[in-house]
Amino acid sequence: MHMQPTVDTRPVDPIVAPPAEIRISGLEKVYKTERGATHALSDINLEIRKEEFVSLIGRSGCGKTTLLRIMAGLVPPTSGDIEIGGRALWHGESVDSSVIRKLGVVFQDSNLFPWYDIEDNIALPLRLRGVKKAARRARARELAELVGLADFLGNYPRELSGGMRQRAAIARALSDNPELLLMDEPFGALDAMTREKMNLEIQRIALATRATVVFVTHDIDEAVALGDRVVHLTPRPGRIKDIVTVPMDRPRGVEIKQDPGFHELVGNLYASLNEEGDHES
Ligand SMILES: Nc1ncnc2c1ncn2[C@@H]1O[C@H](COP(=O)(O)OP(=O)(O)OP(=O)(O)O)[C@@H](O)[C@H]1O
Ligand SMILES: [Mg+2]
Repeated sequence: MHMQPTVDTRPVDPIVAPPAEIRISGLEKVYKTERGATHALSDINLEIRKEEFVSLIGRSGCGKTTLLRIMAGLVPPTSGDIEIGGRALWHGESVDSSVIRKLGVVFQDSNLFPWYDIEDNIALPLRLRGVKKAARRARARELAELVGLADFLGNYPRELSGGMRQRAAIARALSDNPELLLMDEPFGALDAMTREKMNLEIQRIALATRATVVFVTHDIDEAVALGDRVVHLTPRPGRIKDIVTVPMDRPRGVEIKQDPGFHELVGNLYASLNEEGDHES
């Protein structure tokens, strides 16, 4: 048989940077209480590409949670703008709910509802949106498989370990196909072994769902192991001190911790954080 040479005549994609998924500009946050004002964030400017994994580090009280809560539509900024997928998230003190729908949020505590089983917890965002029971069940099962909880859909949160609850919380955050996953120290309460496992899981999940991720941690190793870039925030007021690119392919396994390049990045970030001194409040 005569073989025709195959010629690919499709046009070649131009090599361009992918569009910025998130654009934060001139962001300021001042909390006002009876005891005075706290300038929590100052002049935050950051662009995050689609499908990028950004780690956010900094000392306790430097404003990491504040930045994430503003990005999640939970706390309004004092001034400045956040665009997600080309749309402004905040208009003064009100949020654009069509932008909120693109987000999935995971906090340090899994915040599952104790009176719902895992299936109902995972599917809650869908129920709030009026999705029918059968479709919710199917989606909950799919996500439970993704996070390794397929055998626990009928269990209650109290019957799960801390790591399993965090995985359920991640599944819930993913249930409505978020374009952006915001995670605030999601593995802070886990032991070292479980944490290592979750680090692998979250990379696998991020790649599978193609979500853009902003991941807060105070663990520098974790920040470098997971991030395409590491954003370092300094306190009082919280500002971006530097942004470090981690030039290694993802997903990354535990072997990255043997890599001299990894150690150099971690060492530099440690030094940079230490320059801030020990003035914990
Ligand atoms: N609701 C609030 N009202 C008043 N001040 C607040 C509020 N939330 C946070 N702050 C202040 O804002 C600053 C930043 O706090 P934030 O929780 O964002 O820090 P963080 O980097 O997440 O710290 P940690 O690593 O300890 O979680 C702190 O000085 C804190 O006291
Ligand atoms: Mg915090």
